[in-house]
Amino acid sequence: MAFETVGVVGLGTMGAGIAEVFARAGLRVIGVEADAEALARGRGHVERSTARAADRGKLTAGQRAEILGRITLTTSREDLREVDLVIEAIPEVLDHKVSLFQDLDRICKPETVLATNTSSLPVTAVAAATGRPGRVIGMHFFNPAPVMRLVEVVSTVVTAPGVTAEISELAGRLGKTAVSVGDRAGFVVNRLLLPYLNHAAVLLELGIATRDGIDDAMRLGVGLPMGPFALLDLIGLDTAYEVMEVLFDETRDRRHAPSPLLRELVTAGLLGRKSGHGFYGPQEPPKEPEK
Ligand code: 3HC
Repeated sequence: MAFETVGVVGLGTMGAGIAEVFARAGLRVIGVEADAEALARGRGHVERSTARAADRGKLTAGQRAEILGRITLTTSREDLREVDLVIEAIPEVLDHKVSLFQDLDRICKPETVLATNTSSLPVTAVAAATGRPGRVIGMHFFNPAPVMRLVEVVSTVVTAPGVTAEISELAGRLGKTAVSVGDRAGFVVNRLLLPYLNHAAVLLELGIATRDGIDDAMRLGVGLPMGPFALLDLIGLDTAYEVMEVLFDETRDRRHAPSPLLRELVTAGLLGRKSGHGFYGPQEPPKEPEK
């Protein structure tokens, strides 16, 4: 199947980044949000991200205009009737995802592939809610989507093998490497990464080192681009907490118990960059990595 037009539902940090990735690769994108305010926020994400690339000389003004011109924004899901692929990037609430996929199944032409960018919820549950489970798949991008070069392609027991192959090939067209994974909590990256991040919060709470000490230790001692607290702020503390809950539920492994400190910050609305405050506050951003 030739993927030419793609719908992206949900234009938060991830959805807007995904829309930009597709538009940069020359595909037409229809971005859907619930209301005009959310649409304007999504447009703002893509405008800022492409402006930064233009400022750094990575895009010409003309290329930037072409990318923005390929993205149409709407509040109506019905506008997705003719798209070849839909990527869902709405908040991680299974009931909302199931009802969205039922809607998409009704609206989109029968060949359309329906993909979810979920970081933690079962792809099988959304697939089973549609009349086309063989054409439902996970397409998991990483934050920031325009930069990170991986897409986890999540196949369920009912995904048609041809669809897995087509989506993996499409990831290549986007300049990403596809890794094929099964539908298990956290897939590969989050299953390995999030327990490490969660454990950093446990160490902080135990007083073993300070926030900056732990971030410095992992950046300078291991060569990671960001320490765990800077990365938690980037990912979103709510997202990190949700992934840990799902991992703990599925594995019942005590090492996956979500950190109480993480829960407390999420409850207080300190979600990281998206809310302007997480482990780091607006006045004290994490240190820049040494170049
Ligand atoms: N959006 C778009 N582009 C961005 C960006 C953003 N939010 N942040 C940075 N960039 C671009 C810059 O424009 C720059 O592009 P260029 O090389 O073409 O000029 C490039 O990224 C590097 O940016 P900077 O020089 O400003 O900063 P750094 O070198 O410090 O890189 C980083 C920033 C790419 C975020 C780097 O620190 C990094 O790789 N961090 C780790 C990120 C990570 O691990 N992500 C995965 C999280 S797990 C996840 O997403 C799964 C989910 O399900 C939870």
